[in-house]
Amino acid sequence: MTNPIILPADIREHIDKWLLRYPADQKRSGIFEALRLVQDWNGGSLTNELMVAVADYLGIPHVAVYEVATFYTMYYLNPVGKHIINVCTNISCMLNGSEQLAEHLKKRLKIDWNETTPDGKFTLKEVECLGACVGAPACQIDKRYVEHSTPDKIDEILKELGGAA
Ligand code: FES
Repeated sequence: MTNPIILPADIREHIDKWLLRYPADQKRSGIFEALRLVQDWNGGSLTNELMVAVADYLGIPHVAVYEVATFYTMYYLNPVGKHIINVCTNISCMLNGSEQLAEHLKKRLKIDWNETTPDGKFTLKEVECLGACVGAPACQIDKRYVEHSTPDKIDEILKELGGAA
């Protein structure tokens, strides 16, 4: 069966430029960037059809794209809110208060892990080490890292983003 999705021209062009950084026979090197672009284009998440479209465009097995998309937490396989809040609960963050922070966020947003607020504004995710252990507890809100996170600090950011009053 042919995939009904053809990647938009600007995305194909960007992928082509990206691939120039790598040897011509290393098309898999384009998976991360292609998935990132396609996910943004699709409003924040991926679908099977989009993953197939990426694999077909790169000329690689579909499974190679699935492996990346299902392993890394920066790819979302279900629709997400406008803003994604990733809370690290690994050891350094756990020892520095990530559990309390998570509880605060759940209460404030009235959602649990992997849920999105009814207004579609925020999705809450529990993630593995964000590589910011020195600033534990660490969160990532969209593309912004928030180190030494506290409920007050997080509330300020939520306010900035116009939500969870
Ligand atoms: S343990 Fe949380 S950022 Fe490393």
